[in-house]
Amino acid sequence: MPETLKRNIVMMGAPGSGKGTQSAVLSEKLGINAFSMGDILRGVARGTDEEARQVKALIDKGNMVPDQLAIRLMEKELFKPENQNGYILDGFPRELSQAKALDKALNSRKYAKYNMGIDLVLLLQVPDDYVIDRIIGRYACAKCHTLYHEKFKQPHVFGICDVCGGKEFTRRADDTFETVVSRLRLFRRVTAPVIPYYEMKGLLVCVDGTGPIDVVSEKIRKIVGY
Ligand code: AP5
Ligand code: MG
Repeated sequence: MPETLKRNIVMMGAPGSGKGTQSAVLSEKLGINAFSMGDILRGVARGTDEEARQVKALIDKGNMVPDQLAIRLMEKELFKPENQNGYILDGFPRELSQAKALDKALNSRKYAKYNMGIDLVLLLQVPDDYVIDRIIGRYACAKCHTLYHEKFKQPHVFGICDVCGGKEFTRRADDTFETVVSRLRLFRRVTAPVIPYYEMKGLLVCVDGTGPIDVVSEKIRKIVGY
């Protein structure tokens, strides 16, 4: 691998900006693990205990889960052995307090030896009207969770998942117009302050996320250096 290759990557952007889509491309090209805090929380929400019920109620309405929970889940996932050679972290941090908690964990006595410090923070920039269009048309394979879109990314054979051959598809409960508008508001109010934090550290690179998926992937390829 080239010396300049970025392997420890944080993916930021508004809801529907393409974080999950581009994380999947990077994961395949670099052969490293991508994980989304949203996916982890939807997994938690499928449980049957009180925590599952509370998480489901929060994420279905587009509200953030409590910081301590998000931080605990991030630490549990990030420091697994399979991520020690590189990772793509999608949807975390989403608040300044989470960004600081991530730095603290990466520099802690327990984990600093793995050299997992962030190499790059990619910020996908997409105007609100694009985001709404993308989220309202989004669906995913029920089995392997590959993302599709009614207008922008249909499976090659209609009704059959390209990746696993699954024939059932699902939509997210938080993908309604009202919820997207409130998620966008939350992004501006709570997540946007994380952007200057990474800018000051010299880690942030902004990417115009408005073009077709492969055009955005190409821009990211050049930044990541593969
Ligand atoms: P999460 O699942 O992370 O949702 P999000 O941030 O709102 O982002 P999305 O997953 O909706 O969008 P995306 O940017 O991944 O876009 P995608 O690639 O799918 O989080 C869900 C919830 O969990 C949060 O609301 C919150 O409640 C909670 N949560 C998560 N993290 C948390 C944290 N750290 N702390 C507290 N709470 C937390 O693309 C969208 C669609 O567009 C797809 O259909 C795709 O096919 C299509 N598309 C993608 N790129 C393009 C393109 N270039 N052109 C055309 N179509 C495209
Ligand atoms: Mg996503």
